[in-house]
This record gives sequence, C-alpha cells and structure tokens, in this order.
Amino acid sequence: MIVGNGHGTESPPAHEPYSPEAVHLDREDRHRASNGHETTPATANGSPGDIRPGGDFRTRAAHAGEDTAAPVRPLTSPIYQGSVYAFDDPAAFAAAHEANPPRPTYSRAGLPNTSQLERAVADLEGGEDAVATASGMAAISTVFLALLSAGDHVLVSADCYSDTATLLREGLGRFGVETSFVDTCDPESMTGTMTPRTRVVWVETISNPAMKLCDLAALAKRAHRGGALLCVDNTFATPALCRPLEHGADLVIHSATKFLGGHHDLTAGVVVGRAELTARLRRCAYLFGPTLGAMDAWLALRGIRTLAPRMAWISETALAVARFLDGHPHVTAVRYPGLPGGWQVDLARDLLPDGGGGMLAFDVAGGREAADRLLREVRLIPFAPSLGGTSTTAAYPPHEWGSLPGSNGATIRLSIGLEAARDLIADLDRGLAAVARAAAPAGVSA
Ligand SMILES: Cc1ncc(COP(=O)(O)O)c(C=O)c1O
Repeated sequence: MIVGNGHGTESPPAHEPYSPEAVHLDREDRHRASNGHETTPATANGSPGDIRPGGDFRTRAAHAGEDTAAPVRPLTSPIYQGSVYAFDDPAAFAAAHEANPPRPTYSRAGLPNTSQLERAVADLEGGEDAVATASGMAAISTVFLALLSAGDHVLVSADCYSDTATLLREGLGRFGVETSFVDTCDPESMTGTMTPRTRVVWVETISNPAMKLCDLAALAKRAHRGGALLCVDNTFATPALCRPLEHGADLVIHSATKFLGGHHDLTAGVVVGRAELTARLRRCAYLFGPTLGAMDAWLALRGIRTLAPRMAWISETALAVARFLDGHPHVTAVRYPGLPGGWQVDLARDLLPDGGGGMLAFDVAGGREAADRLLREVRLIPFAPSLGGTSTTAAYPPHEWGSLPGSNGATIRLSIGLEAARDLIADLDRGLAAVARAAAPAGVSA
C-alpha cells in the first residue's frame, strides 16, 4: 500500500589582518542582490557562471557565503575561534554592535563563521538574511519567542516533528501561547481554526515522520489573509529540493544538524527570511543566547558545499529503496514523497521537482516485534536517533505516532545516506527475510 505520498575583487596582500568590515560589505552586496535590484530571485538554474542569486543552485552551494572581499582569502574559510573582538576606538565598537546585521564584537551577537553560514543559507533559500542558532530546536524556539506573546495563537500541522509540538504545548503553553493542531494537507482545515490572535502557521515541507506534503502557496495565502506568518521547517527537503520562500512562506527554519551539515558531526539551526523579521529574531537570540559556535558553523558550511550532489544522490537512492519496499509482501505501507501512485504525487512534482529527499517511512507486517527483528538483522543500517548524514540510519518515530490513523505501530523511519541503493536494498531484503521466516508457520520455509 502506498501512503506517501561578486566575485572578481582583487585579493588584498596576505599579511593584512582579518577585517570584520570586509565581511559586512560582502553581506550588504548580497542584500542588494537579493532585493532584486541587480539580479533575479534565486532559481534552480540561472545564467551560466553566475554565483549570485539567480545562478545555478549547484554552483552557488559550492560558493555561497564566501568572503570574497576578505583581506586574506584562503579557499576554505579559517575558523575564527575567538569570542571577543578588539577595537581601537569605542565609537567603532558601537557602530559594529548596532549595525544590522551586526559586525563581529562578541560571540553571542555573532561570529565571522556564523555570519558566513547565515549568508550562505540566506542565499540558497532566496531570503534577505538569516540567523544561525545552536540547534534546530534553538532556531524553532527563537522564532516562537521572537514572534509570540501571551494570548497569541499558533496553528500547527498535526504531524509535525514531535519536539516542536511538545515545545508549543509544554514550553510556550506555560507562557500563555495557545496551539491548535490541524491537518495542513487540507488548507480548508484552517478555516474556523484561525483566530484574530493567530500569529504563526507552522508546517514542515516534508513532515516528520508521516512524509506528508502541503500546498505551501495555498497555506501562505490563508495565513496572510488572517494576518499570520507562514513558517516552514525545511529540514527534510533542504533548499536543494524546495525553497519555501518562493511559495510564499515568510520564514524558513532548518535543523542544520541534518542534511545541511550532512555528516553526523555538528548541531546547528538556521532561520531565513525578510530582514525585517530576521532582525527581530537576531535581537531575541542575542538576549536569550542560543548562540552557535564557530566550529559547528564552519562544519555546517563545509557540509553545504556538497549539498546539491548529496541531495540528488540520496533522492535517487531513496526512491529506489521506496520502490523495493513498496513491492515487498512483508511491508504494509510506504511513505515517500513522489512515490509513483502515491496520493500526493502531483503536489510532489510541484514542490519537489528535483527529488523527494532522503527520508522515508514504512510499516513492517507483523507489528513491533517484526520491526525489531528487522532492525537487529540489518548490517548496514544502524538504529540512530537522528538523520540526514552520510550513513543510512533507521529510527522509530516517537510513540505518539504509533497511535495515529494509518500506522500499524511498526513504522520504521529511514534516513538514506550515501551508500549504493543495491546494498541498502540487499540489507533490507535480509532483514525482511528474517521477518518472513519468523512469521512462517512451523515447518513451512518462507
Ligand atoms: C524536522 C525537524 N526539525 C527540527 C529538528 C530539531 O533539530 P535539532 O535536533 O538540531 O535541534 C528535528 C530533529 O530531528 C527535525 O527532524
């Protein structure tokens, strides 16, 4: 059963020290470009050789955020590990601190490596600016803390990431923020649930773990009509596959811990949007302090350099694995965006024209015991409570998911990595054969 649905600046002499002003100038150039004064908005494929917004995504991912105006310009940026910057003149410090976005003064207000990551993700998502945070949850909580007050209301997709739902219920609920969970796959369901106090509509491009899509443009229209902002967690799709701002979203949120970083070796988050909104988020992050360190920002940008080929490769592999599982007699459901025959295949073509990403979920016939057996049997696919890295991993969705309609309580969520599809399929086949053997009546070989 298918359920699823400017370059060209001369390099200054190498002996000159690092200049935060140079970083700022580079960012302002990008802002001018992304405001449409010099170039067209970001698209998947622009004019050849152009690494500014409008150029080919793959080329831009390989260069986005580069310090082209930095006095010392190694091809890979150094890690600026310092937490504080020194000024000869107090007025120069004040100017740097008050600039928007701020120039480096103190780590909690931003560092050269976090600024570079912010520029890169803003560029790739087609946004004006970005704020980097210490984790995906820090990015999510910064959005809520910056935009919501007591008495405000949030409308959230019923199958969103469980920690986002819990943060809203338990965390924000204590501060008087109300939350309604709705089926955002049906934009009509918002009618009657939006209130005059609804400030935020929250969805995921590909939901975790149901792998559902929603019509972002329709949701944006409804949210805006009611005076709310559409915030989209784009962790599963990444800007290589979908850029929600192009569909009308106001803010795009990432756990960069996952596919953006891509190597299971960092924890980070990023929020992208209009400069007017990111300025509010930046102020909030400065006060609440979910600061990202230089090393993790550097690692995230290093991961982004290979984002385009990784996402293309894993999308192809994930589709092959989804097709294999879909035809297997011991699999009762497969959830993967764009799986041929799935109920959301048209929406997937519109939203994810370059691939469905690396996340899929499937239900094992025989319930949780059978799923446990499969996970013990496979050799290439470790059980690991995260996703989006080089290695394929498996996990169980949170326990609430088991009781949702359409699940048999034995859903396994796979995050596809960089292995060859045939090796993953052979491994899953081995696991499912063990399930079949255990299910066969005594004396009958499966
Ligand atoms: C869709 C989604 N958003 C946000 C997060 C939170 O990210 P982090 O673990 O980096 O805080 C996760 C984590 O799994 C996620 O799957």
